[in-house]
Amino acid sequence: MLALTTACNQPAKTENATSASTAAAAKPASTTVLDKKADWWKETVVYQLYPRSFQDSNGDGVGDLKGIISRLYYLKSIGVGTVWLNPIYASPNDDNGYDISDYRQIMPEFGTMADFDALLKGMHQRGIKLVMDLVVNHSSDEHAWFKSARASRTSPYRDYYYWWPAEKGTPPKRYSTFDVKKDAWQYDAPTKSYYLHIFSKKQPDLNWNNPKLRQEVHNIMRFWLDKGIDGFRMDAFQFVAKDPTFPPMPGLTEQNYANAYNHGPHLHDYLKEINQEVLSHYNVMSVAEGAGRNVTEAMLFVDPARKELDMTYHFEGVGVGSNSDTYKLTDLKRVFTKWDSAFAQKGWQAIDLGNHDQPRMVSKFGDDRPAFRAASAKLLNTFLLTMRGTPYCYNGDELGMTNSRFNGIADYRDVAARNAYALLKQQGGNEASFFHSLARFSRDNSRTPFQWDATANAGFTTGTPWLKVNPNYVAINRAAEEKDSSSVLNHFRHTMAVRQAHAVLVYGRYQLLDAANPYIYAYTRTQGTEKILVVLNFSSAPRSWSLPAGLKPIGKPWLNNYPTLKMDATLALQPWQAVLVKVQ
Ligand code: GLC
Ligand code: CA
Repeated sequence: MLALTTACNQPAKTENATSASTAAAAKPASTTVLDKKADWWKETVVYQLYPRSFQDSNGDGVGDLKGIISRLYYLKSIGVGTVWLNPIYASPNDDNGYDISDYRQIMPEFGTMADFDALLKGMHQRGIKLVMDLVVNHSSDEHAWFKSARASRTSPYRDYYYWWPAEKGTPPKRYSTFDVKKDAWQYDAPTKSYYLHIFSKKQPDLNWNNPKLRQEVHNIMRFWLDKGIDGFRMDAFQFVAKDPTFPPMPGLTEQNYANAYNHGPHLHDYLKEINQEVLSHYNVMSVAEGAGRNVTEAMLFVDPARKELDMTYHFEGVGVGSNSDTYKLTDLKRVFTKWDSAFAQKGWQAIDLGNHDQPRMVSKFGDDRPAFRAASAKLLNTFLLTMRGTPYCYNGDELGMTNSRFNGIADYRDVAARNAYALLKQQGGNEASFFHSLARFSRDNSRTPFQWDATANAGFTTGTPWLKVNPNYVAINRAAEEKDSSSVLNHFRHTMAVRQAHAVLVYGRYQLLDAANPYIYAYTRTQGTEKILVVLNFSSAPRSWSLPAGLKPIGKPWLNNYPTLKMDATLALQPWQAVLVKVQ
């Protein structure tokens, strides 16, 4: 049984972010997961929080830990059970914290270890769990290990990384996704060798073949787990295992590198070792970014009998419609249905439609034009919170935040965008189509500051934000949505409460209906005798949908993103209408 919650569709009291007394008085939207339960991570809802953009507390334009602490009442008010924090460790920020120079220090821009301890305590006091990012496919080139390794071929840290001595000639081709030249080997003069970096050249890959490196990682994990954190999201983990002889990979391209690097030798030995040495000693969750090349490989990460990780998230869902202006709903349905059935008997997966590497979900999968933005954002949140698996909600999506508007490359901050532009400048190419694609898919779209209110810089900072605030903050912001009982935010709260009150929405069997319908995504969730029907009109036009024979609605819908619903043998659905109703 799940913890019982009170459905909350009332706007929460607007509170002053810095007032401790109002924060303490914040009324929880729901109770949280059952702490002691071994698989609490199946019942929780994860809120992904991008610290750089959440709340600045000291006016330097960069979000920080004190800023998050000042907003804990808000996290509680929306009912999240677990927060996944993007990296907050010491980092020169070539890739916004995904290049770590000290795994046991907090990035000074974000605060101190004392701030971290206060944050963790504040979360736990509110029944919110904390999951940290673990970025160990690579470190920063400014990590002490790498500084020592690059200084001498006999450094004790030399084998923490991959080197190709220049006397062996040019290394076998390896593709780098962020490099200006797309070359994953960087020549390093002091030791006349190349080092490997499949991300930027400031992110040298760590050598997992070296047992000493693996022990270092285990110790880093213990350091944070002993502080009391509740788990790890393991960054780029599908790439960590590599054949150190670097056999040729002919035909390596931008399109196939991810598959080519996936699932290298001993990957699962490393995961089993992590489980045995570290994870099994704590009641925490572990989630891998990336899940192998297919559902069969994904299962290898999370089959409980294998004792590796708890859950994994795949890229096929967020990948639907990538590099194109449109997508087909039938593709989205096919992908989510395939992944659900692969995990129907065992294993567990994450459900997500966006994150800090993707465009805003409402701009990609919904319709962010003013007439449809709110309805489509509510529909997408209904989808996320009513599928089987653990929902991952990316911060700002609960407000229906959209892709931003950037004027030229100087507005972009992402290393991927800037280096891709440098390459375009070198090689020549169509700037208009480059910027068209960047406007739609740049990772900066989802990294713009959180829109708290209509004051300057959306209430994110009193200084100059590190990345421009989306100009639509004047209309789309948390303060405005608090006051509006029909806002995306209040719909999110209500949907969250409904999920947390009904085990059928967590564990119930998922069955797709009307697979070929290009506009309607409909499915049932069934547990024992309880059956729930979810009907989502994924289009900006009204559509009618006939109830399948044998499905009879009972009572009023539990969820509906419009004030009314015309329902007899057919449902007359408004644009982006999303309804959930119990059926028999
Ligand atoms: C993951 C992260 C991404 C980062 C990359 C390298 O894909 O989600 O933001 O750039 O790994 O660490
Ligand atoms: Ca700051």
